[in-house]
Amino acid sequence: MLKGDDMETAQATEPAVRLDRVEPAIADRSDPAAVAAVQVPPVFQVTGLSVTYGSHLALADVTMDIRSKAVTAFIGPSGCGKSTFIRCFNRLNDLIPSARVTGQVLYHEDDLYSPTVDPVEVRKLIGMVFQKPNPFPKSIYDNVAFGPRVLRRKDELDGRVEMALRRAALWDEVKDRLKTNALSLSGGQQQRLCIARCLAVEPDVILMDEPASALDPISTSAIEDLMHELKTDYTIVVVTHNMQQAARVAEMTAFFSVDVGEDGQRTGVLVEYDETQTIFTTPADPRTEGYVTGRFG
Ligand SMILES: Nc1ncnc2c1ncn2[C@@H]1O[C@H](COP(=O)(O)OP(=O)(O)O)[C@@H](O)[C@H]1O
Ligand SMILES: [Mg+2]
Repeated sequence: MLKGDDMETAQATEPAVRLDRVEPAIADRSDPAAVAAVQVPPVFQVTGLSVTYGSHLALADVTMDIRSKAVTAFIGPSGCGKSTFIRCFNRLNDLIPSARVTGQVLYHEDDLYSPTVDPVEVRKLIGMVFQKPNPFPKSIYDNVAFGPRVLRRKDELDGRVEMALRRAALWDEVKDRLKTNALSLSGGQQQRLCIARCLAVEPDVILMDEPASALDPISTSAIEDLMHELKTDYTIVVVTHNMQQAARVAEMTAFFSVDVGEDGQRTGVLVEYDETQTIFTTPADPRTEGYVTGRFG
């Protein structure tokens, strides 16, 4: 169960080695990191997941694993359920009254939707960054210190704040003005602050829903660099409508599309999930090919 300190025990007792559903190509088998990356158990195992809003089936029957300490990208046209899907990983759909999630999501082999799991605990381990940076109208310091304070991890608070800001590649830009209001930062800085706020509670997974789509190219590039840095320690899942971004940052890419039913109902489906390089160069499904070559979508 996902109860604080038990998590480490749970991870320690996982089966030693299990390959992913399909063994992905490893570019260089002499590179131990590349080999290890595909041999650790997946962080999430999603099986037959569907989401409805009222009577609208928005996402149907998704089955996929999320690889540990890698970047996984979700791409696809607007309305195909990318945001709906990523919200399933930290039970954020629980906060939408009309949303109903069926199927199974295992997180380190525990049922994320078990009635005994506290969604608030889940969201400490599985942080989220949104499209629009959403710092609190508080100082830079207080934004980052917020989580540790709530969790009563107040020891070494200055150190925690500094470490999170360093990890988010923001420290050098803000170290002399930690007491200024976070809203005075640029959009790109605000987004890195939101990432720092996430990191300050020492999460396991970071979910990002179009984290750079409201940012200028330089800030976007900073966020992409950060994803590269962070994946050594964290599992990252990112929604992006920017295919070049997925190609640049992600090891694995899932392409979603929209099926339109006879009644006109639009339902998101997972079309293809594979190594990013495969999705962009030799996809198996013509719908993926059409999308990545820009012929539709
Ligand atoms: N809070 C919500 N309430 C009702 N319907 C929603 C809600 N969020 C998303 N939807 C619907 O679910 C479908 C998928 O939306 P979304 O997950 O936002 O797609 P994407 O992120 O790929 O653009 C759309 O038809 C959208 O209208
Ligand atoms: Mg979305």
